[in-house]
Amino acid sequence: RSAFPFFQEMDPSLVEAVLPHISEKNYRKGSLIFLEGNKGEEVFFIASGAVSLFTLNRTKKVVLSVLREGDYFGEMALINPEPGRSATAETLAPTKLYSLRKSAFLLLFDRDRGFLRHLLLNTMERLNNANQQIYDMTFLSVRARIIKRLLSLQAQQPGSASGRESQLPLRITHQQLADMVGAVRETVSKIIQELQDEGLIRIERRMIRLAEPARLEKKLQEES
Ligand code: CMP
Repeated sequence: RSAFPFFQEMDPSLVEAVLPHISEKNYRKGSLIFLEGNKGEEVFFIASGAVSLFTLNRTKKVVLSVLREGDYFGEMALINPEPGRSATAETLAPTKLYSLRKSAFLLLFDRDRGFLRHLLLNTMERLNNANQQIYDMTFLSVRARIIKRLLSLQAQQPGSASGRESQLPLRITHQQLADMVGAVRETVSKIIQELQDEGLIRIERRMIRLAEPARLEKKLQEES
């Protein structure tokens, strides 16, 4: 519970009312939690691990967001049931979730202003991210989107504030990167090769090391 700020601030009687509607679920890496279009029966809080939310057509997949410990997902179809789940949820690592049943979620939604405020703030942050993605898809080349994504993945790594070369390389496949930037794998592989030839990144045991993050930043600015 401590990972989720809104539960800490919640009226104890409300916590008591919803507690019986919470269950713990453990998933292996690569498990589907629900599919786009499914009916929404519960909302999920991530206790550990990582969950990708994506949508597909016949040829491409686009990752809307990757959520981690302390995040939640699956609230939209509870508040607005008509379209069903707006994306598919899949684990990217072994993941522990707490699920909260729809009735209990709606009780908090109706009764707890603090909970509502958290939800709204979080929704605004997601909207900002989505606007940013629209901007990037419209104005940036695939190459610039890849550079931007590599830099942001690096910034999310533990210890990213410290030094450059001491950082861990990124464990990500060309396909995963393609799904994140809305491109096909072949294009990503070609650009990764170019960045390597230019000495901006290095491939180490199938992982990507940002050899020169400052130069990558500069390239991104030039290409944006
Ligand atoms: P729901 O529609 O029930 O199921 C899919 C979930 O993905 C959705 O609720 C949100 O929790 C989450 N989701 C959808 N779009 C985004 C987005 N752009 N950013 C972050 N999370 C999202």
